[in-house]
Amino acid sequence: METTEQATTATKTSVDFQDVYKAFIARGRSDDPILALADVNFRVEPGEFVSLVGPSGCGKSTCLNLLAGLSKPSSGQVMHHGAKVESINTSVGYITQDDNLLPWRSLMANVELALEFQGVAKAERQQRAQEFIELVGLGGFEQHYPHELSGGMRKRAGIIRTLIYDSDVVLMDEPFGPLDAQTRVILQAELLRLWERSRPTVLFVTHDLVEAIALSDRILVFTSGPGTIKRDYKVELPRPRDPFHIHETPGFDELYDALWTDIRTEIEKSRGSGVG
Ligand SMILES: Nc1ncnc2c1ncn2[C@@H]1O[C@H](COP(=O)(O)OP(=O)(O)O)[C@@H](O)[C@H]1O
Ligand SMILES: [Mg+2]
Repeated sequence: METTEQATTATKTSVDFQDVYKAFIARGRSDDPILALADVNFRVEPGEFVSLVGPSGCGKSTCLNLLAGLSKPSSGQVMHHGAKVESINTSVGYITQDDNLLPWRSLMANVELALEFQGVAKAERQQRAQEFIELVGLGGFEQHYPHELSGGMRKRAGIIRTLIYDSDVVLMDEPFGPLDAQTRVILQAELLRLWERSRPTVLFVTHDLVEAIALSDRILVFTSGPGTIKRDYKVELPRPRDPFHIHETPGFDELYDALWTDIRTEIEKSRGSGVG
């Protein structure tokens, strides 16, 4: 039985990683597991936008997979609204680096997909999809198929397709990775506008420190593998933010330098150990 006080804290906290370790056993080599995460502890409050940054291979994607219930911690626990995540977590939306649009469905039909699964009536589905399509400037392309859209347009479609069903937590794993710098900044601005509408909790993985600063309330810096949290930065820059001019905002330079110093130390450590 939980005490009343614990229960209250649990419902308030959206995401809670408690003493999480994750080891992977590579192809039957059970004698030599790879420790991906060690002693990971962090909490995310409802509506917070939190970025995870750190050297490649430090366990960022593993964290998202644990919260999505796609994988289980080796020890410790991952809590979502006070309940342990033990199987596929249907209250998260997951946006990966690939847009995962269905090639045989039009833009409109792709955006409607989740609402269709939820049994939302066709007229309402189309109205909501249309609204989101307009919000990201894709009006006029409703009947186009994914191969007829640019990379940036497909990315927008993938994002609104996930945000349309108001999931409580949105996981984004380097969603703007393959795009050119200009398109990235435009999409960052659009993402912030979409996020402001319903303020879901967001866990956002990026290797772009400027992007992390422009978007986040907090930035968690991971150590090189096994990943653990090295530093938890609060981003104090005021909102609403303008990703086009974020580097001119007072406080930006200091935060960027601090983040970069941390990351560089970790990258050098992983080089030194022959990993990465
Ligand atoms: N399914 C898996 N099987 C074996 N090893 C894995 C698996 N997934 C991830 N790993 C290992 O765990 C570590 C962390 O991976 P990952 O979470 O993908 O890092 P990041 O997203 O920070 O680049 C890496 O060493 C990676 O090789
Ligand atoms: Mg990754």
